[in-house]
Amino acid sequence: MNVEQVQRAYASVADLYIELFGTTGQVPADDLALIGRHLSNRPGRVLDLGCGPGHLTAHLRSLGSDAAGIDVVPEFIAHAATTHPTVEFRLGSMTNLDVADHSVHGILAYYSLIHLPPQDLDGVLAEFRRAMAPSGALVVGFFDGDEVAAFDHKVVTAYRWPADELSERLARAGFTEVERLRRPGDDTHRPQAAIAATATDLRAGAGERRA
Ligand SMILES: C[S@@+](CC[C@H](N)C(=O)[O-])C[C@H]1O[C@@H](n2cnc3c(N)ncnc32)[C@H](O)[C@@H]1O
Repeated sequence: MNVEQVQRAYASVADLYIELFGTTGQVPADDLALIGRHLSNRPGRVLDLGCGPGHLTAHLRSLGSDAAGIDVVPEFIAHAATTHPTVEFRLGSMTNLDVADHSVHGILAYYSLIHLPPQDLDGVLAEFRRAMAPSGALVVGFFDGDEVAAFDHKVVTAYRWPADELSERLARAGFTEVERLRRPGDDTHRPQAAIAATATDLRAGAGERRA
């Protein structure tokens, strides 16, 4: 799946997606709490990457963070900007953030990394790390599983990730896991997980090596 395919797939169902998932009422309470614990009141810009309808961006703003939403789907960005006029939204891709190095104090990627081909994940996490300020916080929501595997997501092909494997990828990119949530699947839901992480202090590591 490349970005254009994902963009076209979500654009074709944007109204239905907004109706079904476009408010925080549809977000599990434990995920909302996790997001709040790690991304509220950040000292600078917080990006909601793959913000979709923008409800979580607005939620972050209500929690005292200077949040902005970015998505590749114009229909989502138009809806978000109309529904939450005091919040900033822009069209763009998380694969190439138009921000200065170390300028972002928090990133939310809630079910927006799920469509990335597994071989592209490390590059995107490296881009997150480039953008992230020292001690910045990251929250990622995703589908959990025993192995990295594609599945037939309702909108467009997605990939499930074992939480340990995703945590390892985060560590390699320069993020340290600080909290994890896992929800087992049931008749109507796939297993889900969320990980909160902070930007690893690379300078501290460099100091230890020099000592
Ligand atoms: C499952 S939806 C989640 C949307 C929103 N975070 C939510 O919780 O409802 C995945 C979102 O990621 C966006 N997305 C996928 N790839 C992207 C990319 N490379 N850059 C920005 N957004 C992307 C899609 O357009 C879609 O809005």
